[in-house]
Amino acid sequence: MKKIVIAIDGYSSCGKSTTAKRVAAELGYAYIDTGAMYRAVTLYFLQNHVSFTNPKEISKALDSIDVAFNYNPKVKRNEVYLNGLNVEDEIRKMYISNQVSEVSVLVEVRRAMVAQQQKMGRKRGVVMDGRDIGTAVFPDAEVKIFMTADVDTRAKRRQQELLEKKQLVNLNEIKENLEKRDLIDSTRAESPLRRAEDAYLLDTSYMIIDEQVEFVLDKVASKV
Ligand code: C5P
Repeated sequence: MKKIVIAIDGYSSCGKSTTAKRVAAELGYAYIDTGAMYRAVTLYFLQNHVSFTNPKEISKALDSIDVAFNYNPKVKRNEVYLNGLNVEDEIRKMYISNQVSEVSVLVEVRRAMVAQQQKMGRKRGVVMDGRDIGTAVFPDAEVKIFMTADVDTRAKRRQQELLEKKQLVNLNEIKENLEKRDLIDSTRAESPLRRAEDAYLLDTSYMIIDEQVEFVLDKVASKV
């Protein structure tokens, strides 16, 4: 069967990664969480006090960063590594969520990440989720999905996810973070978050995961 690229973009916390992971597992495809890559870069910048306004420092830092995904059989998922260290849990914390959009707006960072993502998906057979996959990383993706959901629903889902990781965060703080990130992500100059013209719109406000997965698999069925 023909292997394709499935691009899943959309607003923060509307279920992109949960859906993408399930679709990838169903199809035997690789799943690539591009948000995790921007989060790992943010962690490096914060740990190494890289100035967000100094292009030289940014380029030097990017040369020293290796972001990779390695499969962890214990939890049956890919985890993110920054320069050989597992940072899967660290990058999901609120202090990273609060800074990541300021880092992912930087042109040097975007160019480096997009090039790496294109390399990762060059053999196709991937489900990639993010903000600019269908518009900038793989404009030729065979299936493009643009996900959205009501912001209060997204905030509650995110709070629940954090709780499962034993992080207790106030609902308003989460909602403000989502709204701020969405605004920065969709108004930046370089590859902003927007729906590609040929992307299917998927509003998950009143959907369960199974329905989201079905929606995507149904679109895939017409392409392979
Ligand atoms: O998907 P997640 O919420 O983990 O993404 C974190 C942040 O990374 C986003 O808010 C956005 O600023 C950035 N991002 C991006 N382009 C992508 C994926 C994520 O700019 N393709």
